[in-house]
Amino acid sequence: MKARIIGTGSYLPERVLTNRDLEQMVETSDEWIFTRTGMKERRIAAEDEFTSDMGAAAARKALEKANLKAEELDLILVATLTPDYIFPSTAVLIQNELKAPQAAAFDFQAACTGFLYGLSIAKGYIESGFYKNILVVASEKLSSIVDYKDRNTCILFGDGAAAAVVSGNGSGLAIREICLGADGEVAELLMLPAGGCREPASIDSVAKGKHFIAMDGKEVFKHAVRRMEGAAKECLEKANLSEDAVDWLIPHQANKRIIDAIAKRFSIEDEKVYKTVEKYGNTSASAVAIALDELILEKTINEGENILLVAFGAGFTWGATLLTMESDG
Ligand code: UT7
Repeated sequence: MKARIIGTGSYLPERVLTNRDLEQMVETSDEWIFTRTGMKERRIAAEDEFTSDMGAAAARKALEKANLKAEELDLILVATLTPDYIFPSTAVLIQNELKAPQAAAFDFQAACTGFLYGLSIAKGYIESGFYKNILVVASEKLSSIVDYKDRNTCILFGDGAAAAVVSGNGSGLAIREICLGADGEVAELLMLPAGGCREPASIDSVAKGKHFIAMDGKEVFKHAVRRMEGAAKECLEKANLSEDAVDWLIPHQANKRIIDAIAKRFSIEDEKVYKTVEKYGNTSASAVAIALDELILEKTINEGENILLVAFGAGFTWGATLLTMESDG
């Protein structure tokens, strides 16, 4: 049995936060943000709109596209670093919202690489014959962990969700090859310092702003380019494909300069590199998944065409996934 993505969906909150808005909040400029990141705006969830709500909204669209009922799901996986609660998982909240009581459900965390890690879990379960239909959700309310007084980080992140139904039945994007990696030695370069068991929430941790994203942007940038390039090349090698067999490249949407650097090292034309970074910024685990859904909505993906997803995030974690459009059989 082959695991294929038979339906995708995404959800972006209504509220738009523009570079001009950010100019009113911190010492920055539209020009600086656009030239350094390629971002113009990002979406921000409403106060009463949470990771589970956005994930469920994206999931409903993915199920509709897949022509599958929520009751037919065997497993719901949620990639997020901004869960509604530390526990219970956001996956069980989505399971309840979707009314899929028979589905098992759990969250996992691989930061911005989450969607790719999720596809690998789904592929394993389906191709081993353990489950038939799996919903992989990536959903983030990053605005809940961003310090809107810190110009180094607040310009970068946005909220949003996407979902993919992965099944052993039906036509769609075969999850053909996956390469994943991690390096915990540099974990402190991008993290949320407090709120875990090392430093539980306290008056002091809140006063010191330790519940916000802390990042050494310059260092992260260098690792991101190197790791995504490496993962993409390794994935193609494993699939025995050359770079020109890639019809679409979807890199993590963290910074247009990072995307351009990968595209250049990868010798792929700019028109084949799909980007949402200008309008949504970095939505962590959701970024590649939202871009995949929008690509599918916008373009016709023909039989045999290849889409290469590549991502990088806190941990560090990274990965590449090769998808090929295939008919059932
Ligand atoms: O999703 C996980 C992956 N995340 C990433 O991949 C993020 C990777 N990093 C980046 O995208 C970039 O490093 C940033 C966009 C975060 C920063 O761009 P940069 O070109 O590396 O700028 P920088 O950090 O070297 O800062 C250059 C200058 C500094 O001023 P000084 O020290 O040279 O006087 C910063 O203080 O720009 C200043 N700066 C800003 N100026 C205006 C930093 N942020 C801003 C800002 N507006 N928002």
